Amino acid sequence: MEYIVYEQKGSYGVITISREKALNALNSTVLKELDATLDAVNLEEVRCLILTGAGEKSFVAGADIGEMSTLTRAEGEAFGKIGNDVFRKLETFPIPVIAAINGFALGGGCEIAMSCDIRICSDNAVFGQPEVGLGITPGFGGTQRLPRIVGVGVAKQMIYSGRNIKAEEAYRIGLVNTVYTQEELMPNAEKLAATIAKNAPIAVRNCKKAINDGMQTDMDQAIVIEEKLFGGCFESYDQKEGMTAFVEKRKVEAFLNK
Ligand code: CAA
Repeated sequence: MEYIVYEQKGSYGVITISREKALNALNSTVLKELDATLDAVNLEEVRCLILTGAGEKSFVAGADIGEMSTLTRAEGEAFGKIGNDVFRKLETFPIPVIAAINGFALGGGCEIAMSCDIRICSDNAVFGQPEVGLGITPGFGGTQRLPRIVGVGVAKQMIYSGRNIKAEEAYRIGLVNTVYTQEELMPNAEKLAATIAKNAPIAVRNCKKAINDGMQTDMDQAIVIEEKLFGGCFESYDQKEGMTAFVEKRKVEAFLNK
């Protein structure tokens, strides 16, 4: 891989977008490599992922403007689809993904962060959808995910104005869950990943699916989605172990992902 570094650290994995000279901007190669990296994650062992950017300045400064500058209408649509497909893969990935946002998260950078389950950032992070200043709309899901996360009014203001916001404002509007100092970001991302990875993996996966699928439908159907996934847990060894341990007043020996 030229631009992606993947490291498995026991029960969680860290994906680093590593194209520091271009502030980790997403060109077609980065997107293809990210797709292949996700396909190669060992889901028997890995229970949570962290996504971050290389260096101290930028998470991802957007889709690659140089590459986009000469695209035709059809090529623009095709480029949008490449990004959307891999972001959707990330969003529906069976295990949780934490975005550890360590600097610029602009355009496609903000959009990839929004495709993750949990967003935490460093105090130098900057968020925005500056596309209208380049003559385009957000193209990797920004018009759809931003209003779902921060509400329609705030999303419209950000997208129409193209104005960037700092970490504290991103926290205030609910775009990120926590702001850390630069030094504290990765240790806290890893601590959170390890905490998630300790819980019953099938239950965690089912929670992700229930939330994702349920948020796309009305409450009557959503609650049925939860019922099925809740019921499914009762076929697992981990449910038996989790509840038996409670009843026997002992600690869970191990969740075995089965
Ligand atoms: N695409 C391609 N290259 C980029 C890039 C991007 N999105 N962002 C930064 N770079 C490159 C710069 O061209 C520069 O390369 P050179 O050294 O070869 O000139 C290098 O990264 C460093 O960037 P700057 O010198 O500009 O660094 P800075 O500290 O002065 O500014 C910045 C940082 C404010 C993030 C500025 O780089 C910037 O505004 N970048 C573009 C941000 C942007 O508009 N992103 C949205 C892209 S459109 C999109 O993402 C569409 C979509 O929804 C799919």
